[in-house]
Amino acid sequence: MRAASPGAVSSETMTTPEPAETKLRTSALSLRYGARRVFEGLDLSLRGGVVTTIVGANGSGKSTLLRSLSRLLVPDRGAVLLDGQDLHRLPTRAVAQKLAILPQGPSAPEGLTVEELAWFGRHPHQGMFASRSAEDRRLVEWALDQTGMRVFASRPLESLSGGQRQRAWIAMSLAQGTDVLLLDEPTTYLDLSHQLEVLHLVRRLNEQEGKTIVMVLHDLNQAARYSGEIVAVQGGRVYAQGDPRDVVTKELLRDVFGLEAHLLSDPDTGTPHVIPYGIARPRG
Ligand SMILES: Nc1ncnc2c1ncn2[C@@H]1O[C@H](COP(=O)(O)OP(=O)(O)OP(=O)(O)O)[C@@H](O)[C@H]1O
Ligand SMILES: [Mg+2]
Repeated sequence: MRAASPGAVSSETMTTPEPAETKLRTSALSLRYGARRVFEGLDLSLRGGVVTTIVGANGSGKSTLLRSLSRLLVPDRGAVLLDGQDLHRLPTRAVAQKLAILPQGPSAPEGLTVEELAWFGRHPHQGMFASRSAEDRRLVEWALDQTGMRVFASRPLESLSGGQRQRAWIAMSLAQGTDVLLLDEPTTYLDLSHQLEVLHLVRRLNEQEGKTIVMVLHDLNQAARYSGEIVAVQGGRVYAQGDPRDVVTKELLRDVFGLEAHLLSDPDTGTPHVIPYGIARPRG
């Protein structure tokens, strides 16, 4: 999709047939915490088999939106549809077999090891007696390998550095073996080479296994380079959605991030490369 204009979000109803490529869709979604409204009447379609990155300022609702897509947050009004089915009417286990989320700032019981955490990812797939199948073992091993966490497998989470801990949580989401992965700031705490490892892993999972990935990133250059689509949120709405080349503009940088910036072209990919040089307006 290369359509991106401020507020260019289609208005659909729950009875509209799903376009084949739509994986996740919100319909007239309203999200709030008590009296604090974060989104109102949001209609957003996310395509299957695509890496979509949600960007926006601190507090703009990225995590709130991602949590609602995973069912962690109950909508005030409206619905989230996964493959056309209302997420809140599906059994918890059925949702967890299709969709995994890495929340922002997750916490675990003290003493839990990296390997035990990864095994949590297999819970939705295990039978009544939680017996471990060969497939469970394969996915746990694979997830630990993909994140470079096998060497830390027996270490308690609290004994790890911030970046190692973040990778352990990514391993748990991977071990779930779902078609859809929601990752809230998966590169937080990681040094640059580990950031790239995670982004290359995301790309590999998408290109080789056709996984649908929706993530939140703050680094706009990484978002532009590693995403098929960007969703920019601002002021309780989607400001723009589409191909990074169309979405990341000087206008967006000013309106969404309050930044004046040079906009260059990434020499490898031709995607936008942002060099901020000034604050465009006081941050509210
Ligand atoms: N549990 C909560 N209770 C009350 N308000 C909340 C809660 N969680 C978030 N908010 C508020 O909702 C708004 C959106 O928060 P959210 O965490 O979704 O932002 P974000 O875009 O993910 O920000 P960041 O980039 O800092 O992670 C903010 O104003 C925040 O203060
Ligand atoms: Mg957040």
